[in-house]
Amino acid sequence: MVQLTLPKNSQMHEGKTWNAPKETGNWREFRIYRWSPDDDENPRIDTYHVNLDECGPMVLDALIKIKNEIDPTLTFRRSCREGICGSCAMNIGGTNTLACTLGMDEIKGRIAIYPLPHMEVVKDLVPDMTNFYAQLRSIEPWLQTESSEPQKEWKQSHEDREKLDGLYECILCACCSTACPSYWWNSDRYLGPAVLLQAYRWVVDSRDEATGERLDNLEDPFRLYRCHTILNCSKACPKGLNPAKAIAELKKKMVERRV
Ligand code: SF4
Ligand code: SF4
Ligand code: FES
Repeated sequence: MVQLTLPKNSQMHEGKTWNAPKETGNWREFRIYRWSPDDDENPRIDTYHVNLDECGPMVLDALIKIKNEIDPTLTFRRSCREGICGSCAMNIGGTNTLACTLGMDEIKGRIAIYPLPHMEVVKDLVPDMTNFYAQLRSIEPWLQTESSEPQKEWKQSHEDREKLDGLYECILCACCSTACPSYWWNSDRYLGPAVLLQAYRWVVDSRDEATGERLDNLEDPFRLYRCHTILNCSKACPKGLNPAKAIAELKKKMVERRV
C-alpha cells in the first residue's frame, strides 16, 4: 500500500475542553479551530461552553466572551460589531459569514467555527488577506479622471448614481471569494468575485474616465475569465450582494467594446 506523508500542520486533532458546565443555565457548545505559528503543533479543535444567559445574542458576542473570560489566547479579528467593517468574516456552521450579524439562534446544535476557507491562516480564526488586498490594489479602486478638477465635486445624475447600488455596499469581507471554487484553485491569478465586483463598481461609475484601461487590465484568461458562473459567491454574501451578476456585466462590457 502507498504510504503518503501529509504536509506539516495538515492533520487536525481533538483539542482542549474549556468551561464545561457545572451549574444549570442556557449552555451552548462551540467547536473552534485553533492553530498557532508559534509552536510545531498540528491544528486542533477546542470545545468551549458558554452560558447564553450571560452573553449577547450574536456569535461574535460569544467569541468575545470566550476571549475575555475563558481563554484569552483565542485569536480573531473584529471591529465594528455591526456588519460594516468586514473584519469578523469566518466560516460558521459551514457557511462563510460575519460573526457579528449572525444570531446564535440561527444555528442548530453546537456551533463550529473555522477561518475563511482556502486562505493561509495567520493564527486561529485570522486568515492572511495579503493576496486579497494586493489583488484589490491591482484594480485601482479609486476615482480616476483626466478632465480638470471641478471646483466643488464631481456631479452624477440620480440615474447614474443608482447604477452603483448593489456595489458600493460591499465591505470587502471576502466571504464570497473564499466560497468560490475557481478562487480556491487559482487565487494566484484569478481575481475572485469580491475584487471583480469592485472592478465593476469603478467601470460603471459615470464620473470615472479610465474605463478602457480598467477593462484592458481584466483582459486576461485568468483575472476575469476563471469565473464559471457557479454562483457560490452570491449565495455567500452576508450583505445580500450579487458578485456573480457584476462579473457577468463585466464580461458583457468586454464583448460590447469588441463590436
Ligand atoms: S459565479 Fe464565478 S465568482 Fe461566483 S462562485 Fe462561481 S466561479 Fe466564483
Ligand atoms: S460582495 Fe459581499 S461577500 Fe463579497 S466581499 Fe463584498 S460584502 Fe463580502
Ligand atoms: S465586526 Fe465589523 S463586520 Fe463584523
